[in-house]
Amino acid sequence: MESTSARLDVALNCRESISHEIASNWKVLCENNFECYHCPANHPTLAAIQDVGEDFSCEFCDRYFRYGPRPDTVHSIQNRDSLLYFLWPNLFIFFIPGVSGVVRQIQPVSSDRSLDVRRYCFSDAVDDDVKPETVEFWKHVLAQDAALCENVQRGLGSGRFGQGRLLLPVTDPAIQRFECMLHRSLSDGD
Ligand SMILES: [Fe+2]
Repeated sequence: MESTSARLDVALNCRESISHEIASNWKVLCENNFECYHCPANHPTLAAIQDVGEDFSCEFCDRYFRYGPRPDTVHSIQNRDSLLYFLWPNLFIFFIPGVSGVVRQIQPVSSDRSLDVRRYCFSDAVDDDVKPETVEFWKHVLAQDAALCENVQRGLGSGRFGQGRLLLPVTDPAIQRFECMLHRSLSDGD
């Protein structure tokens, strides 16, 4: 983790903060961030500029982890340079070091609603003309995720699904880690 955490030593200033409610359980929203199976179909604009077809790789620590495209399979500049961190229980940090970042906290409101709090940040080196366009792009992508998670929540609310499927450490490492953290917290009251 030392190699990547050292790259976070860069000043980013918050340009915009937004928060809004999403009709989805907070765990559904978190899990959505940990995989990109849905990306080609759900994020066509993102898939047009970034490789979204590769499995995630992870570096795990006790209460946080880094995850993202495997370093040996990424192709675009954004994929190669981006850093995605999850801090238990609900904080996400997405960085392109020296350029921009999105800090996102997903707060439970009820069993089927969450508050999505986001801060969009940039370094002073980024042209002011680029910032609003970048913020709007990520708002659009995350709105697609919100709609997807609300559909998942509707399915969960139907009562049809009593239990999820087995998550394998090879194919779903970040989701599995998140579920283990959740299990530990519920078991230990951590
Ligand atoms: Fe997504």
